This record gives sequence, structure tokens and C-alpha cells, in this order.
Amino acid sequence: MATVQELLMKKVSDEEMPAPSKVTIVGVGQVGMACAYSIMQQGICREIALIDMVEDKLKGEMLDLQHCQRFVKNVSILASTDYAVTAKSNLCIVTAGSRQKEGESRRDLVQRNVNIFKSIIPQLVKYSPDTILMIVSNPVDILTYVAWKISGLPHERVIGSGTNLDTARFHFLISEKLNIAPNNVHGWIIGNMETLVCPYGVV
Ligand SMILES: NC(=O)c1ccc[n+]([C@@H]2O[C@H](COP(=O)([O-])OP(=O)(O)OC[C@H]3O[C@@H](n4cnc5c(N)ncnc54)[C@H](O)[C@@H]3O)[C@@H](O)[C@H]2O)c1
Repeated sequence: MATVQELLMKKVSDEEMPAPSKVTIVGVGQVGMACAYSIMQQGICREIALIDMVEDKLKGEMLDLQHCQRFVKNVSILASTDYAVTAKSNLCIVTAGSRQKEGESRRDLVQRNVNIFKSIIPQLVKYSPDTILMIVSNPVDILTYVAWKISGLPHERVIGSGTNLDTARFHFLISEKLNIAPNNVHGWIIGNMETLVCPYGVV
């Protein structure tokens, strides 16, 4: 006997669905969740996997995104502290990292974040050997280099967010000064914003 689904649903096309695309985000702090939410809103992948080491926070963030699913294009939200959940990701975005402790030097912070990367990057590559790595954690240029070295991936598959944020800030500052929209400002920051002298002084 035909099922209710078979009675109600009729196949109208033999066309294959496009291969599901998957994005992993490591670190569900402010940056990780901003990434997750904007990717979800744009409907550019079919699956988002979240990873963090703080289990209850991870679960809470996963539930928040899942409860938004009603308002966006079809995307599944997965989360776990186990990297198996990231398997077959096309893109892995790394936003995990420690904050600078009081009195801690920048060099010590770098070392702590390098140690964190030593635990994260091999797991990502193990479960998604064909992935592209996008590094956001700071200091981003150093950690992108570290991720490339640890991962063993070809350099074109390890990308840092670089000076995109600095460039966006630069566009905003110029737009304020000239009273025009930031998206009508064209130019790039190449190098470190900390030493840039901008129209408002040293940023
Ligand atoms: N590249 C850029 O333009 C840019 C812009 C903003 C922030 N950042 C950097 O992004 C990073 C994240 O910023 P944030 O504000 O989201 O920080 P946050 O402290 O809110 O979040 C960091 C998250 O990483 C998690 N984490 C730490 N160690 C981990 C590990 N070993 N495995 C899995 N998860 C781990 C923490 O539990 C936390 O949820 C920082 O390094 C920050 O400096 C970069």
C-alpha cells in the first residue's frame, strides 16, 4: 500500500541536488557566532558545524541558531566538542583563541594560541583533508602561517582574514571625513593598522 508521502508527493524532476556544502566554525565566541549567523543568513551552505571546548556554551549557541532556522534557507546546524562532527567540510573557519591575560606579553599570548592551534588544526585536516582553512584568530598573520605549517595543506588552501577588518575601518573613517558612503571608498590597508596614521590621528 502506498504511503501518505507517496500519495501526496510526486517526483517532478530527476535532477540531482547539488552536493551539500559544509562550513565548520571553531570557536563560538563573538566572532565565531557572527560568522555562523551571516553564513546562515546568506544561505551559502547546507550544513554548519560548530566546535568549541566549552560544552554548555556550544549547546546554547547551537540551539539559538537552530531556532532561527525557520527564517532562513534550509541549513542544518550541528555542534560538538568532537571533531568528527566537522567531517567533509569544504571550509573550516578558525576563530578560537585565548584573550591576553593581565600582565601577559603578546609573545606569551602567541605561544598559547599556537598551542591551541596544535590541538585544533590536525583534527580539522584529519576529518576534512580537502578543506580550505580560513584563519581569523589573532595575531592573524602569525596564526595563519602556523596553521599552514601544522596542516601540511598547500598554501592556496590556508587563508587568513588579513587586513580586511583594517580596510573596512579605513573605509569607514574616510567616509566619515568626506561624508560619503563607506562602500564608495576604494583602497586597501596593506600591513598593520596599529602603525597607520589616518586622518583622525594614529589608530
Ligand atoms: N582577524 C580579524 O579581523 C579579527 C577580528 C576580530 C577578532 N579577531 C580574533 O578572533 C578571535 C576570537 O575573538 P572573539 O571575540 O570571538 O573571542 P571569544 O573569547 O569571544 O571567543 C573565543 C572562543 O574560542 C573558544 N576556544 C578557546 N580555546 C579553544 C579550543 N582549544 N578549542 C575550541 N574552542 C576554543 C572559547 O571557548 C571561546 O568560545 C580572537 O583571537 C580575536 O582577537 C580577529
